[in-house]
Amino acid sequence: MTFLRQFYQILEGRRVLLSLSVVCGLLFALANLIPPLLIRELIRWITEGREATSGFGLVELSAALLGVYAVRGLSRYGYGRFSHVAAYSVMHDLMIRSYRHIQRLPHRFFTQERTGSLIARSVNDVEAVEDFIAHGVPETILALVIPAAMMAVLFSIDPQLALITLAPIPLAGFLVYRYVKKVRGMWRAVRERLADLVAQIHDNLAGIAVIKSFVQESRSADRIEEHSRRFRDTSIEANYISIIPSGLIEAVGGCGIVLVIWSGGSSALEGKIAVADLFVFIVYMGHIYQPFLQLASINDVLQKASVSTDRVFQLLAVESDIIDAPDAAVPPGKPSWDICFEGVTFGYDPDEPVLREVDFRIESGQVVALVGHTGAGKSTVSALLPRYYDPQQGTVSVGGGDVRGLPLDYLRGHIAPVQQDVFLFHGSVLDNILFGRPEATEEDVRDAAAAANAEEFILELPEGYDTLVGERGIRLSGGQKQRLSIARALLKDAPILIFDEATSAVDTETELLIQEAVGRLVRNRTTLVIAHRLSTVRNADTIVVLERGRVAEMGSHDELVARGGLYSRMIEAQDPASVPLIKRA
Ligand SMILES: Nc1ncnc2c1ncn2[C@@H]1O[C@H](COP(=O)(O)OP(=O)(O)OP(=O)(O)O)[C@@H](O)[C@H]1O
Ligand SMILES: [Mg+2]
Repeated sequence: MTFLRQFYQILEGRRVLLSLSVVCGLLFALANLIPPLLIRELIRWITEGREATSGFGLVELSAALLGVYAVRGLSRYGYGRFSHVAAYSVMHDLMIRSYRHIQRLPHRFFTQERTGSLIARSVNDVEAVEDFIAHGVPETILALVIPAAMMAVLFSIDPQLALITLAPIPLAGFLVYRYVKKVRGMWRAVRERLADLVAQIHDNLAGIAVIKSFVQESRSADRIEEHSRRFRDTSIEANYISIIPSGLIEAVGGCGIVLVIWSGGSSALEGKIAVADLFVFIVYMGHIYQPFLQLASINDVLQKASVSTDRVFQLLAVESDIIDAPDAAVPPGKPSWDICFEGVTFGYDPDEPVLREVDFRIESGQVVALVGHTGAGKSTVSALLPRYYDPQQGTVSVGGGDVRGLPLDYLRGHIAPVQQDVFLFHGSVLDNILFGRPEATEEDVRDAAAAANAEEFILELPEGYDTLVGERGIRLSGGQKQRLSIARALLKDAPILIFDEATSAVDTETELLIQEAVGRLVRNRTTLVIAHRLSTVRNADTIVVLERGRVAEMGSHDELVARGGLYSRMIEAQDPASVPLIKRA
């Protein structure tokens, strides 16, 4: 029932098209029914003389047949065309709807769900729905209407013979029905195996460089083989079950024909039934079981579609918990951009807090540095600000108000992050920088690139700003990517900037150049800088030291050094001479 409801819902806006296709289908069914009846007239004429017929001549009969075949051709074209247009349109709607939906889901969702599996749902499953609309709907209707109409004709010709020859039909109906449920479970398993396979291939290809460098090709191929084998085996099993009814129906249909020949033949020999009528029986018998076969195979398509529809709807049913509050509003007046964490406790898993009671404040226009050992929770702090996650306790506020009270687009539109892992899209350098503010002028882009100290290397690229980067583009070095992502963030021209290890991959000299340029730009902006290289944050207004999710100490560089706590120990450890990266035994 849910399937029918879901199905009805996804047909929204395409119902007229689908109805047209059904009308054409009905015409087609009718056109199939008539020719044997016209031929029956001719046979009657030959065997019983002109008086036994309705009086049509050969010309009229031929003309009528021609007309019927023309309708048959046209209606077949019509139902195929209308149903496919409807199906492809629904497919398009569903794809775009799932994509838009996926995009709105919170960060947490993407750490739990594999990309490949999402691709499988929004492409493969949506395709299965298309298949059903294009082939399933009109054909199901034909498969139901044709036998019913043929039966009615046969009953009107000779009820007794009809009763005998149609006796096996309920059996055929029962067989189709019996396998409906079984097949569904099997196809669900098949879809899940396919999603696993796609996810694994996606994973492997994304990490192909790692696979090659650790010479793991054969092991990762084995893993794909394992998934593919499971997909194959489940498919074979599902197919095995789903084609059983076809075989049975063929046999049952054969029984029907045997019955016509046996019972109808003897009646004809006894002169109880006209040859012309027997002809109609024999021709119809060849057709009457066909639709049951079709129903069996449509059931397959239907079950695949219903499983897939279910999977798509399950995805669409995932609600985002990070959404605009009903009363979210842009604060009135000129906003201030101070940031405040108050008693913030947060864990990706609510039972295992990563941040505990974090309190700190960044005045509007100030630069605050967040330092601490790896895994201390620095990136997590920066993820709470644009509400990638909401804390379990405490509040994060911007401009004096809880971030949960601001519209998401407004909040995120005013924060420009440079994240720890840089991601560049497939496209030109220019496209990637423009991502920060698509309507920016070329001059703005150049300024941002210059400030990020990226202009120089960009101009040296084969096609400058038009060079393709990202997937299938040229490879940039780690430091070059970082500088592009800084340019992208600077271009956004947001009042709050977050730099998470933004210059960790450039040499110290370049880092100083970037710092100087960014320093000019960040004037009047509230900035959160996360850095491991402590030398780069000594000028920050305030330094917040995180230790295992807690604020261990806070103050200016000089204050913290004088205090002799964690920060001063970290500074000592970072004295370039003190710790060589690799110690020789
Ligand atoms: N998406 C996530 N899901 C679950 N746990 C996470 C997630 N991201 C980070 N963590 C965990 O949260 C803790 C803090 O991680 P975080 O990335 O904030 O550290 P960090 O201080 O930025 O470290 P680094 O200096 O290495 O970047 C770590 O123990 C990490 O394993
Ligand atoms: Mg981090």
